Amino acid sequence: MLASRNAHKARELERLLPGWTIEALVADGWPEETGDTYESNARIKAEFGRVVLGPGATVIGEDSGLEVDALGGRPGIYSARYAPEGAPAIAKLLGELDGIDDRGARYVSELVCITPRGEFRGTGTLTGRIAREPRGHEGFGYDPVFVPDGEAESVAELGDAWKERHSHRARAARALLAALALTLLVAGCGGSDKTGTRVLQRFFAAGPVARKLGTRFPHKPGTLPCTVNDGGKTVQATCATEVSLVKPDKAVVTLTEAWNHGAKAHTWFFFIRRDGSVQSVVQEGSPSPVTTTTK
Ligand code: IMP
Repeated sequence: MLASRNAHKARELERLLPGWTIEALVADGWPEETGDTYESNARIKAEFGRVVLGPGATVIGEDSGLEVDALGGRPGIYSARYAPEGAPAIAKLLGELDGIDDRGARYVSELVCITPRGEFRGTGTLTGRIAREPRGHEGFGYDPVFVPDGEAESVAELGDAWKERHSHRARAARALLAALALTLLVAGCGGSDKTGTRVLQRFFAAGPVARKLGTRFPHKPGTLPCTVNDGGKTVQATCATEVSLVKPDKAVVTLTEAWNHGAKAHTWFFFIRRDGSVQSVVQEGSPSPVTTTTK
């Protein structure tokens, strides 16, 4: 359950968390967002969801906002309250930036997922600049005036499919998935070292790609020092392997190659099918390093 009144976010998150069904919480008496960080506001929403639904529920709270450099990071956590969402908020923002050449900005998304087994978090950012006029029709909020770094079009022009891969929320969702895969699924669901090792042996023998990965990553849950080529430079990194054992025949293997140079990280999620074949989803160059764990 997503504790949010923003239907766009529930739809976006459902696309971002494969295999999850995300419903937007319908309730009265929503609490005020009195926190002074995205995280505390996200937690206020998630905790409200747990009060409404009971302690057995898994509830995600999300808080996000737009931080504009020339405005000292405003509207930030107050983005939803800056002005009515859509055209009025955009008009106010463009008015404040009138005549200002520094157009740098970033979107931030913080996800707090409260489950019966504990709390998990994911953070994501998307950097870019504020355009001089709105363009495009997809997305919501400030998307018509937000142009991501490396792009010429606004997020509203780039569209929902682009957002699914690159948005601040997409990045936060992947970080949340990584946190869940690394912690909740491994530690909390009764997997044993033996089963994990068996699954990983099968995984690393599954085909040429997996065999190649097997020369780099530990063959049991844990970490290994390694080196990566970062734009022509060889840098020290950590290669980590984890495996979720909720359904051992459909285990998610998480391979994380993380290095601190430039705070970049690659995360590979691998999915083992019943027949032993492997499907992977790759997240490349996320802006903040993904946590690695040792066992
Ligand atoms: P929240 O629902 O309290 O987290 O408010 C977030 C606000 O930040 C929204 O109302 C939008 O104004 C802005 N925002 C957050 N994410 C996005 C996005 O993906 N596109 C455009 N605006 C966004």
